[in-house]
Amino acid sequence: MALLKQMRPDSRLLAIEKVPAFKEALDEIADPRLTSQIGDAADLLPILKDHGLGRADVIVSGIPFSALKPTVAEAIVRSVHEALRPGGTFIAYQVRSDIEQYARPYFGVSSCKLIAMNLPPLKVFTWQKS
Ligand SMILES: C[S@@+](CC[C@H](N)C(=O)[O-])C[C@H]1O[C@@H](n2cnc3c(N)ncnc32)[C@H](O)[C@@H]1O
Repeated sequence: MALLKQMRPDSRLLAIEKVPAFKEALDEIADPRLTSQIGDAADLLPILKDHGLGRADVIVSGIPFSALKPTVAEAIVRSVHEALRPGGTFIAYQVRSDIEQYARPYFGVSSCKLIAMNLPPLKVFTWQKS
């Protein structure tokens, strides 16, 4: 909902979720700009193509990279980099900082903002694709 509130009327939000029950929760949001899709974040570019979309302006992720096998985490970051347009933005909200080591080879150094009011406190990492 927060993302939709910030979006322009002509923007589109493609929400990709692995777990069907979480997709069902997304489907309760009635907004024509939102499309939900069962899929894997490691396959972003083909999923975008399936929906008639080109590379994304912004990709936002809450996937807990600290809990993933390194090969899986690396595959997702590679997929994010491939699916973003040049100049596009990757935002990841995380409890831990493991994502930095996976993202650095693709995106360089992040900017990071701590949201201390969240329980648990969250780090919001942001990168720009050059
Ligand atoms: C910490 S939850 C965040 C949920 C929600 N985005 C939020 O912020 O309230 C992480 C979500 O990432 C999903 N997820 C984990 N690995 C994924 C992957 N490879 N592709 C797509 N979704 C994935 C999980 O199913 C889970 O719903």
